[in-house]
Amino acid sequence: MKKQEKLASLGILSAGIAHEIQNPLNFVINFSKMSDKLLKDLTEIVEDNEDKLQADDREEMEDIVADLKENMAKIVEHGERAISIIQGILLVSRGKEGEFMPTDIAKLVKEYIWLSYHAMRANHKGFNISIHEQYQDGLPRLMVIPQDLSRAVLNLMNNACYSVWKKAQTANEDYHPEVCVSVEAKDGQLVITLKDNGDGMTNEVKQRLYDNFFTTKPVGQGTGLGMGITREIIEDRHDGKLTFESEEGQGATFTMTIPIRK
Ligand SMILES: Nc1ncnc2c1ncn2[C@@H]1O[C@H](COP(=O)(O)OP(=O)(O)O)[C@@H](O)[C@H]1O
Ligand SMILES: [Mg+2]
Repeated sequence: MKKQEKLASLGILSAGIAHEIQNPLNFVINFSKMSDKLLKDLTEIVEDNEDKLQADDREEMEDIVADLKENMAKIVEHGERAISIIQGILLVSRGKEGEFMPTDIAKLVKEYIWLSYHAMRANHKGFNISIHEQYQDGLPRLMVIPQDLSRAVLNLMNNACYSVWKKAQTANEDYHPEVCVSVEAKDGQLVITLKDNGDGMTNEVKQRLYDNFFTTKPVGQGTGLGMGITREIIEDRHDGKLTFESEEGQGATFTMTIPIRK
C-alpha cells in the first residue's frame, strides 16, 4: 500500500472507532449527570431527617456524599474531555479524499468566515466582532479542494473569534474586537489572510502551535487539532504555505499561500 492509501484507510478506521466510542461515552456522561441530581435529592432527605440520625453518622454520610459528588464531577469532566478528543479525531479523519475542483474562493471564504462567526455568537449572545472583508474583484475560479480549504478557513476563523472573545473578557471598553479577512491572487499565488486583534501568542505557543493536542483552551473548548490539520491541508494537500505573525497581546495574522493551478 502507498503511504496515502495507508493514511486514508487509517482515517476511515479511526473515524469508525471514534463514532463507536462516542455513544457509550455519552451514556457515561449522562448517567453521571443524573447521579449527581440523585445525590442532591439524597442530601435533602438526610437534611430533612437530621434529628433522627446520630451526629457522627450524619457527619460520615455528609462526607461520603461530598466525595461522591466530587467523583461524579470528575467523571463528567474527563468524559467531556474524551468526547472533545473524539470530535477532533472525527474532524481530522475523513473517509474520502477530496478532489481539486474549480472554486469561487471569495464565496467559499465568506461562507465559512460567517459560519464560524454565527456559531460563536450562538454561544456568546451579544458578543460582536467587526469583520472587515477584502475580496479581490474578478477573481476567476481556482483549482482547490473545496471541503479542505473550507475547513482550514473555519479552523483559523474559530481561533481568531476565540482569541478576540477571550481578550474582550478582560479588556476595557476601548477594545473593539476585529477580524480582517482578505483574498487575492498575486504572482501566481492565491493568498488568503486572517488577522485578528486578540491576545496573540507567546513564544511557547508559537513553537507548539502545530502539535496535535496542543491547546491553551479550557477542557471542552479546544482539542488542539485545528492548526495541525490546517497546515496539512495547505502545505501537503495544496502544496502551499501556512505562515503566521503574532505579537503577544496584539493579535495574530495567519496567511495561507497556495500556488494557482492551471
Ligand atoms: N488567532 C490566534 N490567536 C491566539 N492564539 C491562537 C490563535 N490561533 C491559534 N492559537 C493558539 O494555538 C493553539 C492551538 O490551536 P488549534 O490547533 O486550533 O487548537 P484549539 O483551537 O483546539 O486550541 C490554541 O489553543 C491557541 O493557544
Ligand atoms: Mg482551533
